[in-house]
Amino acid sequence: MRQKRQHKLDGKPGNGGDGQKARVDDETSTIGFENMEPNATLRPLCGSPRPIAWRTARTGTAIGRNVRFVRIAPLLAEGEFSKASNGRGRRDFSMIEIEGLTKTFGPIAAVAGVDLKVARGEVLGFLGPNGAGKSTTMKMVTGYLSPTAGRVRILGHDIETDTLAAQRQIGYLPEGAPAYGDMTPRQFLSFIAEARGFSGATLKEKVAAAVEKTDLDPVLDQPIETLSKGFKRRVGFAQAILHDPPVLIMDEPTDGLDPNQKHAVRALIKKMAADKAIIISTHLLEEVEAICTRAVIIDRGRVVADGTPAALLARSRHHNAVTLTVPADQAAQVKSRLKTISSIGSVEEAARKDGSVQITAFPKAGALLIEDVSALAKAEKWDARELYAEPGRLDEVFRAITTHDTRRAAEDHA
Ligand SMILES: Nc1ncnc2c1ncn2[C@@H]1O[C@H](COP(=O)(O)OP(=O)(O)O)[C@@H](O)[C@H]1O
Ligand SMILES: [Mg+2]
Repeated sequence: MRQKRQHKLDGKPGNGGDGQKARVDDETSTIGFENMEPNATLRPLCGSPRPIAWRTARTGTAIGRNVRFVRIAPLLAEGEFSKASNGRGRRDFSMIEIEGLTKTFGPIAAVAGVDLKVARGEVLGFLGPNGAGKSTTMKMVTGYLSPTAGRVRILGHDIETDTLAAQRQIGYLPEGAPAYGDMTPRQFLSFIAEARGFSGATLKEKVAAAVEKTDLDPVLDQPIETLSKGFKRRVGFAQAILHDPPVLIMDEPTDGLDPNQKHAVRALIKKMAADKAIIISTHLLEEVEAICTRAVIIDRGRVVADGTPAALLARSRHHNAVTLTVPADQAAQVKSRLKTISSIGSVEEAARKDGSVQITAFPKAGALLIEDVSALAKAEKWDARELYAEPGRLDEVFRAITTHDTRRAAEDHA
């Protein structure tokens, strides 16, 4: 089997498929279906309870001259996923236990009874609209804010009654930048290392390792307040990981970073994830798809969704929809022919700037369309420039869940 070079494929049997597995290595995943063997099955390795599976065109390349790739969302490689507790792998005891966590500010319930358990190997993406209560939750989990009610345990240590022992296990990247603006990163990290109980050669080693992991070398001796937002963020990141803590709580870790820096930070988080329990808050949905094993959506202080990114994607209207792009003069015919496929529920079109038309076919519940649509495209000799199955759109799910929740809350108050 040949495959586009940038994507490693391993042919180990298992996973219930035909022994073909795609390893998706980066955030711009394009899996070439070109030259795949007849009847090969491609399964994203995301542990979805209902894995998205596509049968390739029966005859390899024969799905059309211009139809070459099926796009799938960035997904975690299997090795990474199996370490997560909610995958098929082992389940470690919970390193972070949050029970009934509540915080009220006067009349505002910023956090309204959050329950979460996070195990080793999990990277939990904490998602929610602005003001949902993410930062407030993180401040309580790390012991920087006392809850109104509820409790938090970090490796068994209660954050309120056994604060120091709990905090020793935590690396925390608060929102915004580190406070000590007049210090240089070197001074600041040495200060943090000292506060963490290191001295002498060990202190130097810890600082050097954190500096190396976060590429802070170029600005080590420049006052923090004079640094760009991206470098300030990396200083915060360096202090959070300095003591190699088993629990990492990071409030929007890639906020303010440019795309390369975002990529570097995400790669670092993925690399560290195996033996840690990590919570990152973010409003970037692509971040969740890129690095999280689990996505928790919080809205108005309450958890409104909790599952793997794949399980959330499966709730998207676009899950398993098939999109193809054809010249405008073929659009009407393509649409009407697509409607003859019984597993297609509806068809939508959108004009594109280049004069072509993008047509999306939505499946009836649970149906897989890609094979039938590919076969039809070939039989009808459509001049399709793109043809791909959609994994689902997280932004759609996010909006549906949080909007619904807001509306319901409004109804509750009515
Ligand atoms: N110190 C505070 N005093 C009063 N209200 C606060 C305070 N901190 C947060 N809030 C309110 O609590 C809610 C949740 O805020 P926050 O946890 O920062 O949300 P997120 O991080 O999800 O954007 C918001 O309505 C915010 O205005
Ligand atoms: Mg916040």
